[in-house]
Amino acid sequence: MKYKLLIGIISGLAILTIGYVILNMNYLQNTFKSNKILPIPVLLEDKNPDINISDYYIIAQEGKTNFIGNKQTLTMGYNGSYLGPVIKVRRGEEVRMHVTNELNDSTSVHWHGLELEGPADGGPRQVIPAGAKWEPSFTINQPAATLWFHPHVIGTTAMQVYYGLAGLLIVEDENTESLNLPNEYGVNDIPLIIQDRSFNEDGSFMYIDNMMDGAFGEYIMVNGAITPFLEVEQRKMRFRILNGANARNFNIGLSDNNEFYQIASDGGLLERPLVNDSLFISPGERAEIIIDFSKYNEGETIELVSDKELVMTFKVGASVTDQTEIPEILSTIERLDESQATGIKTIELDGMGHMVTLNGRKFDINRIDDNVNFGDIEIWEISSSRAMMMGSQGHPFHIHGTQFQVLSRNGNEPNANERGWKDTVYVGSGETVRIIVKFKYKGIFMYHCHILEHEEAGMMGQLEVQ
Ligand code: C2O
Ligand code: CU
Ligand code: CU
Repeated sequence: MKYKLLIGIISGLAILTIGYVILNMNYLQNTFKSNKILPIPVLLEDKNPDINISDYYIIAQEGKTNFIGNKQTLTMGYNGSYLGPVIKVRRGEEVRMHVTNELNDSTSVHWHGLELEGPADGGPRQVIPAGAKWEPSFTINQPAATLWFHPHVIGTTAMQVYYGLAGLLIVEDENTESLNLPNEYGVNDIPLIIQDRSFNEDGSFMYIDNMMDGAFGEYIMVNGAITPFLEVEQRKMRFRILNGANARNFNIGLSDNNEFYQIASDGGLLERPLVNDSLFISPGERAEIIIDFSKYNEGETIELVSDKELVMTFKVGASVTDQTEIPEILSTIERLDESQATGIKTIELDGMGHMVTLNGRKFDINRIDDNVNFGDIEIWEISSSRAMMMGSQGHPFHIHGTQFQVLSRNGNEPNANERGWKDTVYVGSGETVRIIVKFKYKGIFMYHCHILEHEEAGMMGQLEVQ
């Protein structure tokens, strides 16, 4: 027993050292600076003329994309070669998705953050074989939010996301339509899908999942371009940020340390805007922020950074009249009542690299880990064991098919930006986070760490609501 533990520790340390060396080598080589303009994903066209029903067509396909120099990279995308279109839906609307898998491998399309019945969720139980179609439908019944979609097949999720399969799903509602926030897509309302990627000499992606604690990339990319730039006029700009990385946390800020507003978290608008000069965002999480460029002059450049690393550059242009505003009250969030909770679950996230477990075991699709009664409210206490080794990270914990509220973090009030709806919450090494969640839809749902390599290595469970 002791002997096994020792071997475990030694090999863990070896893996870490190798990983650390590779990571640093990569940073040293990272001299390529892109001068590409920020790509803006297209809005997907609704093929149904009825305003209450929409039909969206998505094709998962392979392609080639240019990221570095004049090299072509083999990639995957939805309706294109890398990433996907933005799907915009409205609360109350009936949505019919038509997904075609043109990859040479099976895939699935999971609607991350959407509240819906299990069979429409697109998780590992809804595999779409190569060449097949999947046509789920659902009615949107949740507040306006920035959600996303990505593959979720056992064994290939992390790789398919890395190759480019991810897109945003934006929900609008009466509230967002009545507020005067920046909401002109592509003009003052811009998605920022932030990822990190590494490349081989020939331009192909270098996906390494076994050296470190998840796949880290040498380059930061936004919407599929390495450290791009965006020209902005002197007005308030809203950015819908998705941490679309497989494993890396970002700590977003501006190079001049100026403040910005956060208006939304994963599941929708916060109650009030928050003013801050940094935003921590772990894999799978979203945040909407507003940067007011009216305080800059024409010709200035400001960088969006993660700690000290460049993410993208804003080039400030002319002044314009800006009719938008950031209201003092953004939304009202009804608190889930702790006294109504019917059960408490504990979730223990343990390990790193491939040696990860959830409540001491690894995922098994043939095992239902928890049963929940339809309509029940539960409190979950999620903890991440203190890391034995340096370099190991916390875990972004995610539940499918629902939005939850954070009750406390290490016994204290949650961070100010964690008081809105969430579907993914970061549990740092040694931390305990208490959440409250209501199960409003039936079916089998996944919950897991959103470091995709951890999820892939088994840090995932299944619950059945019936
Ligand atoms: Cu982004 Cu299982 O989810
Ligand atoms: Cu999800
Ligand atoms: Cu994890």
